[in-house]
Amino acid sequence: MVGGAAGIGHVHRRGALMDDLATMVCGCFSSNWDRNLVRANEWHITDESRVYKDYKEMAEKEGARADKIDFVCIVTPNDSHYEIAKAFLEQDIHIVCDKPLTYTLEQGEELARIAKERNLLFAVTYTYTGYAMIRQIRELVDRGELGELLYINAEYPQDWLLVGLFSDKSEQAMWRLDPAKSGPSLCTADIGTHLEGLIKMTTGLDPVRVLAKFDTYPRDLPLETNTTILAEYPGGLTATLWASQFAIGRECDIAIRIYGSKGSVEWEQQSAGVLKFTKLNQPTQILSAAREYLYPEARRLSRLPSGHPEGVFEAFGNIYRSFCEHLIARKTGTTPESFTYPTVEDGVVGMKFIKACVESNANNNQWVAL
Ligand SMILES: NC(=O)c1ccc[n+]([C@@H]2O[C@H](COP(=O)([O-])OP(=O)(O)OC[C@H]3O[C@@H](n4cnc5c(N)ncnc54)[C@H](O)[C@@H]3O)[C@@H](O)[C@H]2O)c1
Repeated sequence: MVGGAAGIGHVHRRGALMDDLATMVCGCFSSNWDRNLVRANEWHITDESRVYKDYKEMAEKEGARADKIDFVCIVTPNDSHYEIAKAFLEQDIHIVCDKPLTYTLEQGEELARIAKERNLLFAVTYTYTGYAMIRQIRELVDRGELGELLYINAEYPQDWLLVGLFSDKSEQAMWRLDPAKSGPSLCTADIGTHLEGLIKMTTGLDPVRVLAKFDTYPRDLPLETNTTILAEYPGGLTATLWASQFAIGRECDIAIRIYGSKGSVEWEQQSAGVLKFTKLNQPTQILSAAREYLYPEARRLSRLPSGHPEGVFEAFGNIYRSFCEHLIARKTGTTPESFTYPTVEDGVVGMKFIKACVESNANNNQWVAL
């Protein structure tokens, strides 16, 4: 792992190790050497020579080993993803990188090109795509159970940034407020992009054009903390996306609702193991994770009997499981049962989405094509 000593790093680690398909053998967990060593010790990196001072040394030294790492997880602020991923791709090491993929669209496109040229796997951790019930939605959509898709509504309100600003100014909040580290967008890139990723995972569709309006509170921040997006998908399908970092009282309340000509679905992360499914003129069905009646593709993503709550660790675990199964299949010359993790190509679409939203907001909320 590169980065991860703070923030979301421990969730990556738990996700990667959850199904015993990977072990963690080396890292450069922090730009601060003391914190790096503390984390390496806590995470049982027993070989001190594999705790590295910086990612360049790690990529070069690991790349030269006969037993080099199979893949690296990149869990650093957005501005560094590109150079770190490139260094490891050039050593023929597969990648799992957090979102947004890069700082600029061009960087993302270059990473996708290098990964393709070198035939390397590259996952992007759009967390919420890993939930079992999100997979169930995709199966319902693909099997025509919702009919023609007519309208999508997705939202991600939260308040931790505002709370952080008014209480303890955390390191995490601080780099996100700096356009040099975060990019030209805060809310859209940080959490709006999860909505775009969720629509892709549930429908298989990429947006064609977007119209965005940004709001900023506290007013003196350089980047937006609330975003409202009207998006058009292939065939004229309309979606509305709302993400907010100043929605007081809301706690990572990501949700998606899809309405079709034959039925609809509604999923909310606060009850991640439940999916509301309604067929035209029928009572609403409450589907529950891990039950026999789910499609096998969704059922295989649960590790516990139904009724035991699963959460964000399992969602990460499912992305890593899918990625590791693909990688192991590649190494053993077999076919994986399923690999449905978000890829570098999805990450590039995410970057196009952010760029188009920034452009739309800056140009009096005009439609911008992706
Ligand atoms: N998928 C999700 O749900 C999710 C959630 C939170 C964050 N993220 C993403 O994860 C990334 C990290 O965010 P965070 O909130 O964990 O940030 P953070 O600031 O809490 O942690 C970043 C860590 O990276 C380390 N670091 C920074 N530069 C480094 C370098 N060059 N080499 C080694 N270590 C370095 C820091 O020391 C720190 O430990 C961001 O891209 C963010 O968008 C994703």
